[in-house]
Amino acid sequence: MKVMKCLFITDLDNTLVGNRQATSVLLHKLLLIREQIYVIYATGRSISSASDLKTDQDLLEPDYWVTGVGSEIYHQGQLDQIWATRLSMDWNRAAIADFLQAYDDLLPQPATEQNPWKLSYFLKPTADPAVLTKIEHQLTDFGAKLIFSSGQDVDILPRSGDKGLAITYIREHLAIPPGKTVVCGDSGNDISLFQQGTLGIIVGNARAELLEWHRQYGTPQQYVANAPYAWGILEGLQYFGWL
Ligand code: GLC
Ligand code: MG
Repeated sequence: MKVMKCLFITDLDNTLVGNRQATSVLLHKLLLIREQIYVIYATGRSISSASDLKTDQDLLEPDYWVTGVGSEIYHQGQLDQIWATRLSMDWNRAAIADFLQAYDDLLPQPATEQNPWKLSYFLKPTADPAVLTKIEHQLTDFGAKLIFSSGQDVDILPRSGDKGLAITYIREHLAIPPGKTVVCGDSGNDISLFQQGTLGIIVGNARAELLEWHRQYGTPQQYVANAPYAWGILEGLQYFGWL
């Protein structure tokens, strides 16, 4: 009988990556069970920036990349066109960019961080974060959503896109049940990962916005690690009996 694989999904910055020794120890352990798991990296970075990080940190090759906060999915070097088509529906990027020009509190991120299904800004340090609530409401009329991370990053995505929806799309394609799936993260753009009914690991260095979300909506399937970075992932995988 063929044994069903498990699905391991992790954010990169400040989760899998952040402490070199921890990353290396965890990846060695994952290599021992590599045949039994699918690996997905779910990151806010673009595919080129994420690939550079993989080279720099000697990360193992994932089966899928979820990049740009779930705005893009890559498998075997190819952009997933079904996902791209889905996100293009009811999405008018140019109209949103025009609309947001009125907000001086938003500074556009570099062109390398923009893509056809993602607009990214920095919130000015002097801005009142309440402005985001107002923008968020107005964005629903544009079929878009706002994701705030690390007290500064503002990502605008199509309603049907984010890290969580992207991993559920892949998980269903692979026919792996939520109970055999674990997600790991540290910040606001990971919240959607934790909303998919899977097992979850919040690393010990998690940002306030994720911890605050967990206090309100967390479930027993979500483990908050004491240890930071990949040490926290290791702690969580041991807790769930994966390692
Ligand atoms: C990464 C991306 C950036 C995004 C942030 C939070 O840093 O490069 O565009 O805003 O993640 O999602
Ligand atoms: Mg992160």
